[in-house]
Amino acid sequence: MKPELSTADQAALTSGSDFWRTTAVESADLPAITVTDGPHGVRMQADGGDLLAGVPATCFPPAVASASTWDPELLRRMGEALGDECRAMDVAVLLGPGVNLKRSPLGGRNFEYFSEDPILTGVLATEWVLGLQSKGVGASLKHFAVNSQETDRMRVSADLDERPLREMYLRAFHRVVTRAQPWTVMCAYNKVNGTYASEHHWLLTEVLRDEWGFEGLVVSDWGAVVDRVAAVRAGLDLTMPGPDAAGDRALVDAVAAGTLDGGVLGTAAQRVHNLVLKAGTRESGSYDAAAHHALAREIAGRAIVLLKNDGDLLPLGGQSLAVLGEFARTPRYQGGGSSQITPTRLDDALTEITNSTSATVRFAAGYSADGDTGDEALLAEAAEAAAASDVALVFVGSVHETEGADRDSLDLPAAQLALIERVSAANPRTVVVLSNGAVLLTSPWEARVPAIVEGWLLGQAGGSALADVLFGRVNPSGRLAETIPVALADHPSFLDFPGEHGHVRYGEGVHVGYRGFDARGQAVSYPFGFGLSYTTFAYGTAEATASEAGVEIRVPVTNTGDRDGREVVQVYVGLPGSAVRRAPRELKAFANVPIAAGATAEVTLHVERADLAYWDTRLNRWVVEDGDYVIEVGASSRDIRATVTQRVTGDDARVPLTAESSVGEWFADPRGAELLGEVFASAAGSATAALTADPSMLMMLGSLPLSRMAMFPGSPFTAAEVEKLVLAAND
Ligand code: BGC
Repeated sequence: MKPELSTADQAALTSGSDFWRTTAVESADLPAITVTDGPHGVRMQADGGDLLAGVPATCFPPAVASASTWDPELLRRMGEALGDECRAMDVAVLLGPGVNLKRSPLGGRNFEYFSEDPILTGVLATEWVLGLQSKGVGASLKHFAVNSQETDRMRVSADLDERPLREMYLRAFHRVVTRAQPWTVMCAYNKVNGTYASEHHWLLTEVLRDEWGFEGLVVSDWGAVVDRVAAVRAGLDLTMPGPDAAGDRALVDAVAAGTLDGGVLGTAAQRVHNLVLKAGTRESGSYDAAAHHALAREIAGRAIVLLKNDGDLLPLGGQSLAVLGEFARTPRYQGGGSSQITPTRLDDALTEITNSTSATVRFAAGYSADGDTGDEALLAEAAEAAAASDVALVFVGSVHETEGADRDSLDLPAAQLALIERVSAANPRTVVVLSNGAVLLTSPWEARVPAIVEGWLLGQAGGSALADVLFGRVNPSGRLAETIPVALADHPSFLDFPGEHGHVRYGEGVHVGYRGFDARGQAVSYPFGFGLSYTTFAYGTAEATASEAGVEIRVPVTNTGDRDGREVVQVYVGLPGSAVRRAPRELKAFANVPIAAGATAEVTLHVERADLAYWDTRLNRWVVEDGDYVIEVGASSRDIRATVTQRVTGDDARVPLTAESSVGEWFADPRGAELLGEVFASAAGSATAALTADPSMLMMLGSLPLSRMAMFPGSPFTAAEVEKLVLAAND
């Protein structure tokens, strides 16, 4: 940065000039750049236009759907396409992806987030960012961090221990930062353990920059900054939106008063400067809207999860059809809030289904346009159409999914439940097609219907993508990135969501999503990783090899049906007898493999050594434990097809012994056991010797810290001798 930039100019540079632009600095010849939402389309506000109605852009499938593809390559292509649209609209930074974990199925922004699993989230988001940034457009990885609910989102403190924080909530951020270097990271609104994310020095500086090596800029979420000086001090570079003259002044005053280091403000301003320069190298461009619509359709088709297909009712052939439910005609394809896109076009399932068959297609709305209300006349009309047709397709889904509010139930609206009931009674060959941004319960009605298609919110090409799957032009290969529970109360987060009085306690710890269901052996409707195909796959024997890099797993997978298909091969790892509480299995690798009918693919997957580690709160670092890791290869988290055990040599993770370490801990440590053994042996004939000869007494002694034992009459050592033992043990 030019040295002559005044403190006032530096301060001005660290806040926006309006809702979407940075501040230009004439004296430094620095223009303003434009940033905009994100994440599944470019929401470019028309000049002077309504904040939410943007310039038309491709509405790609929201993350709830793109994550269900489990296909990194598709995410990369989506990122590239978004980059092209940004270039066409002169957008320098697209505000996404959102990589917060789906802690609760009620989360209002779950449709914008990928998964309840951090590795699946991290792998997919990394590709999205690499794709976008390959076009010279920056990403904004959001919302850093622990922003997993909308209730009281601008104030609530997410209270959690360091293991779940590191192992679950920061893991995807870490992966994307270290592998894709997003140009920007957006801090969250909420507090983390009592401190606003925007003022969190540990998060924004110590972890993000010092530990992970983040080189970009930290931008605030819109309105997340409470105190500009505290934010800049913590490592926040750019406050949005702006202008914020009072905040700029507070920064200048704080530097003058010596309460804010001028160098820290200078660094923040420099980072904004660097971002503007980087954005300046971007070439403008154009994009092919038809090609992007086709890509949106491809991703959407791959995102659809076939949950149930009894008697191979799907794919459809030449049967006459009853298409029922307003959502077939008026699609639900995205959620509400800042991610809302004005699509370039919009496919609806009714038209696409009608165009896919020469057989009779009857339509009935079934419920009213709000999705929430219905009446006897609507139900009777739908039942009549169902009875007159070979197959009934019932389109139902959620109605309230928006930023700013969590849901309060996982149930379909009563009017839609009534429709399923009436239609399935009129025609046993009923297919339920869901449109929803987050989990809906299927347990209340799934036994009534032979087929269920989970259609998520699929973006602007969802209608054609659904027809592709229903008619078998696309063989479904989507897999659940989140568990569908039997009941909301079963969910690991249930008792601690969304908190109260400004705090939400992440009581389930590391047992988020399927980890919690599995740890408690709880039944679910559809497990994490689940999804059917129109073909079937058989797994051979899995083999594993450990190396310094981790574990390589090889497994042959055969398409045993008569249709080409894709299998998502999933690798879960567990460590029975671990020194820390772990889930029985955690996703560590996956591969999305096309396999022709009758063919066998030799699938190779890599579990990275770092992904086996847990965060040790005593050593304050990651530790790979020594042990026999159970590696399960499966078609879902509850459909394990091959298991192999692999020994992994652990890290050197000796915890130093102290006077507060217990007798048991001393004996568990080789050096400690040697030293303490000598002391106990020298006390032969004493009361201690008698005690240690009695196994049950020895067990009781095991929990006694040495410092406390020293105070007992007859102790074989004094407090002073304990100090010597500690020195000798850690020498
Ligand atoms: C959202 C962000 C978004 C920003 C700008 C905020 O309300 O939390 O995700 O990028 O607005 O629209």
